[in-house]
Amino acid sequence: MCGIIGYTGPLPANGILLDGLKRLEYRGYDSAGMAVMDGSRMKVVKRAGRVGLLEDLVGGLMGHVGIAHTRWATHGGVTDANAHPHTSCDGMIAIVHNGILENSEELREELIGRGHRFTSETDSEIIAHVLEEELKGVEKEELVAALLRTVRRLEGSFAFLAISPLLGDVILAARKDSPMVVGVLPDAKIPASDVLSFLKWTDDAYFMENESVALMTPVDIEAWLFDGTPLDVRPVKVAVEVKGEYGGGDVHHTLKEIREQPMAVRRALEQDGELLSELAGLMREADRVYAVGAGTSYHAALVARYMFAGIAGLEVQPVLASEHRLFSGWIGDGSLVMAISQSGETADVLEAVRVAKARGAKIVAIVNMPRSSLERMSHASVNIRAGPEVGVAATKSFTAQLAVLAALAYHVAGRPIDLDGERVGSLIEDVLAQEGSIERMVEGIKDGRDVYLVGRGMHYPIALEGALKMKELAYIHAEGMAAGELKHGTLALIEGGTPVILLNPSDDTYKETLSNGEEMKARGAFIMGISDRSSDLYDVHIELPRTRGYETPMVEVVPLQLMAYYTALLRGAEIDKPRNLAKSVTVK
Ligand code: M6R
Repeated sequence: MCGIIGYTGPLPANGILLDGLKRLEYRGYDSAGMAVMDGSRMKVVKRAGRVGLLEDLVGGLMGHVGIAHTRWATHGGVTDANAHPHTSCDGMIAIVHNGILENSEELREELIGRGHRFTSETDSEIIAHVLEEELKGVEKEELVAALLRTVRRLEGSFAFLAISPLLGDVILAARKDSPMVVGVLPDAKIPASDVLSFLKWTDDAYFMENESVALMTPVDIEAWLFDGTPLDVRPVKVAVEVKGEYGGGDVHHTLKEIREQPMAVRRALEQDGELLSELAGLMREADRVYAVGAGTSYHAALVARYMFAGIAGLEVQPVLASEHRLFSGWIGDGSLVMAISQSGETADVLEAVRVAKARGAKIVAIVNMPRSSLERMSHASVNIRAGPEVGVAATKSFTAQLAVLAALAYHVAGRPIDLDGERVGSLIEDVLAQEGSIERMVEGIKDGRDVYLVGRGMHYPIALEGALKMKELAYIHAEGMAAGELKHGTLALIEGGTPVILLNPSDDTYKETLSNGEEMKARGAFIMGISDRSSDLYDVHIELPRTRGYETPMVEVVPLQLMAYYTALLRGAEIDKPRNLAKSVTVK
């Protein structure tokens, strides 16, 4: 989590950094700050609160070199003091950091013992003090060695940027297990946590290697691995997928992204057939296939289990990335791990992949952000091509993941893909056409304390996904349930007026789910049926278009996203940036 950005070049740094921070804010939004250097003077402003609060403060920051940060608190509360940048005791070095230092307690004690004074509770401030020690008295040609000594003293994950009046227009950068990419212009460099923050200026990007450091001036970048090996710095063009539809507009990003799903699914299904066949071959050869993900991407892994079993008779074991240890012991050189991630930067997923790779597994990434850490760690990858997803709640990336996973399953089966992008896109459009009635319908749940989402078979992971949307967007406790499990406990919670969303498309799960709905209705539940068939059971019916087979999950999740969105709107929740969350979860 946390977004960092720097600038060294001919233009005033403050405007570029502020604009970049706004685009990075999805990574964390507890506090924000900026440091800008003007010759020998460095000024820092920082505040608890949203990036917008900085707007009035940064006007006075003059200079052409600067760094900035948007925070998602890990160590230390949300206070002005804990906001970044942090400075060394003499105020001559400023740093911004994304990640978590695991040896912060020991280092802090050591540094305090040597007379350093800390002004925050963060682990990040340590970097400023370690750099202060390492940079003391070094000549220009010794700078790299000093930076390498610094990173070798740090344990954990980090991407940091540092500036100092002692270094002129140089920005120091380092990364280990947290992302860092540099926007490259002939006369300026913009290091940042992701490309979205500098795309306005350039689509030439240098993706820093993991465990490497870099020194950049407006006209040059030099980089080295932590062991001192110099690196060949080769910028690449950022793929068009990233440029995509990123932009403001007058609705929330989340709603815009929900509405983009017809396009997202169509594009997701326009894949390179040869690549999918190659991956299918690897899957067929593997002894065991795992699908690893977190949050929504884990729900895609759960749906994948049904898809691969149903389409290709292949057993895929879904694994929660943060719980991978349970499975790691079984992973070996015959295993294949499908790592599913929108961002490709989720720390738990990267960790699971690292462990699996070390045990000899083949890694296949299903990812939305091209050139993400995950893509670069994997043996092969498929881009789901959903375009930038800015709302913290995953929406179009989920449907695009499902489309790609189904297509891959058909390749494993060696059968033509029985899924047409145009058709699925228009089925989703049919659901989107009901946006108005869904908006009116959620009046009935907006004041509720709990909501239950119930489904069977592959509709069960969709119920889990709908519940996650309701929790993170509307802040309502929501529980996704396997319909058959209700009578094993949860039914005790159903009483007069309890809202239940019943996922009940007319497939082989239909009749049993309907009976489970009856059981809840008999206990007074208020049933909102999502189905292509009407029934007296439903107090409210959201009509699904008639779907076939594996089209269904991509279509039935859309009303759930809309319900969560409009409930959140009625409750006045912060939709694009829900409290306590961040888009890219880069801490374990
Ligand atoms: O970028 P990833 O797909 O790896 O992210 C995984 C989760 O952090 C993410 O899906 C999260 O649960 C979303 N907020 C869900 O809407």
